[in-house]
Amino acid sequence: MIIKILGSAAGGGFPQWNCNGTHSANVRFGKRGYRARLQSSLAVSDDGASWVLLNASPDLRQQINETPELHPAANGALRNSPIKAVVVTNADVDHITGLISLREGQPFTIYGSDRVLATLNANSIFNVCSPDKVPRKPLVLDTPISLEGADVDTGLTIEAFAVPGKIALFLEKGGSDANYGSRDGDTIGVKITSKSSGKSFFYIPGCAEVDPPLADRIRDAALLFLDGTLFTDDEMVTQGLSQKTGQRMGHISMSGPEGSMEALKPLNVKRRIYVHINNSNPVLDEMSEARKLVEASGWEVGFDGMEIRL
Ligand code: MLT
Ligand code: MN
Repeated sequence: MIIKILGSAAGGGFPQWNCNGTHSANVRFGKRGYRARLQSSLAVSDDGASWVLLNASPDLRQQINETPELHPAANGALRNSPIKAVVVTNADVDHITGLISLREGQPFTIYGSDRVLATLNANSIFNVCSPDKVPRKPLVLDTPISLEGADVDTGLTIEAFAVPGKIALFLEKGGSDANYGSRDGDTIGVKITSKSSGKSFFYIPGCAEVDPPLADRIRDAALLFLDGTLFTDDEMVTQGLSQKTGQRMGHISMSGPEGSMEALKPLNVKRRIYVHINNSNPVLDEMSEARKLVEASGWEVGFDGMEIRL
């Protein structure tokens, strides 16, 4: 199984278009120790021929152009693509908008939870991926199924599970009607397994907490990609970028007693890689103390183009 990080940044990317905060400014002027990052997406393939996207970011066109494995086969039909399916793990802008770039009548399959598919179904712009060519298949939680493209079995299975998270920002109602926290499948994690090798990994780019059910699920895993949005819960507030904490945004922090580094210590997950990294996160600076701490704790900071074979 081959896994490639197409985008390791959170929504907005790195640098974010309108951000003049320390890290976005540093990467923009090319400071040593920083690298630019596209928005949140992975690609996975069992055989190197059929690929599945895990989330479709607003940067998808660029991500495909920069990834030869995702190009049309030069000796193939006039219209062809190795992208056979797309899995969306929530309805956030950074995870669904790339679907619109996959118009042009190419068959593939969209997978998501009932809740996320309901959001796509409610917005007619996603009909540019016409449902007769691009079926939308629900992921029944806690039930492994075969990942199928329009005309091909990808050789992979997927098991989706709900994680503590949040509904999409654009669906939030404010005030006393606040509706954002959710553990019902608005945000899912997925376990992807190769049918040929039996090897598997977990991909959980949005997650508010490693609660006991999630800890049990990922214990002893070979490989985990986890929500690395923030280093500390209040960093966007202290950097003057936003009034929101990580918890308010549905994201666990890396550091602290409730953070992911601490939560993963007893779980024996062999390879741990942070993805969905926000422009406020000090680990974006390879020279930072935060980066050293994360790496000393056995974590890797994912980067665009990172390839893992399992
Ligand atoms: C998030 O991960 O919190 C979202 O991508 C935020 C957003 O939609 O901008
Ligand atoms: Mn996001």
